[in-house]
Amino acid sequence: MRLVIPHWFDFGVDRRLVGPALAGPERWDALRVRSHGVFALPPDRTELDRRADADQTARARAEALTMHIGAQSVASYGVGAAVTELWLARLHPGRRLIVTEFAPETVERLAALLPEFDVRRHDLRSDGPLDADLHLFHRIDTELDASTFRDVLQHFAPVRVLVVATELLGPRAVARELRTRVRPGATRAGLVRSRGAFEALWRPTHEARRLRVADLEAWLLEPRRLGCG
Ligand SMILES: C[S@@+](CC[C@H](N)C(=O)[O-])C[C@H]1O[C@@H](n2cnc3c(N)ncnc32)[C@H](O)[C@@H]1O
Repeated sequence: MRLVIPHWFDFGVDRRLVGPALAGPERWDALRVRSHGVFALPPDRTELDRRADADQTARARAEALTMHIGAQSVASYGVGAAVTELWLARLHPGRRLIVTEFAPETVERLAALLPEFDVRRHDLRSDGPLDADLHLFHRIDTELDASTFRDVLQHFAPVRVLVVATELLGPRAVARELRTRVRPGATRAGLVRSRGAFEALWRPTHEARRLRVADLEAWLLEPRRLGCG
């Protein structure tokens, strides 16, 4: 089944920052740099480390990722608060790791918080793969509609991509979205897609192997070998 529906979220008091639709670098910067909730980037490193220490879900995901990735170099795109990537670095300090975001103030704050990291501004809609063995798309599927996601994968056709899904659309998610969208303060916040909708995205460019990353579904995408006629 290929199904994609809008994702709705109630940001509470932070709705004044994100408005009716969370999309584009300005809105994401507002949420990361000017809000004080769970989406905010901490003001200093002590707080970021404290948040990572407390986030055992991120730790479990990073442990599972480390099992799949081994010692390979990684470029991670749309890292947000980069808690998973901080755990990746803690678990394997010798790994070459590039972390990227498309929102400029977020990039600036990340670079200040994580001086030992290679932090770069990168917009998946226009920029191609960076220099790494493996390219991590960790819960950024919500941000890319089918046509944009396919374009991104065309740019990434020659490289290996690890896609970790935010969630798979099923009956419970459909019910939740229907409930949330009627709330007066609800904000449009990307998309949720079914397994079939995910797997149709990379059929033209990559061969996929299903993986599990702790509580999340994932796929390792290998470049599709073209026949040489
Ligand atoms: C749902 S958040 C996930 C953040 C993080 N990867 C995680 O797992 O917590 C999606 C992130 O993708 C970023 N993003 C959205 N569109 C992007 C684009 N075109 N290129 C790069 N990053 C993008 C946003 O700034 C946001 O931080």
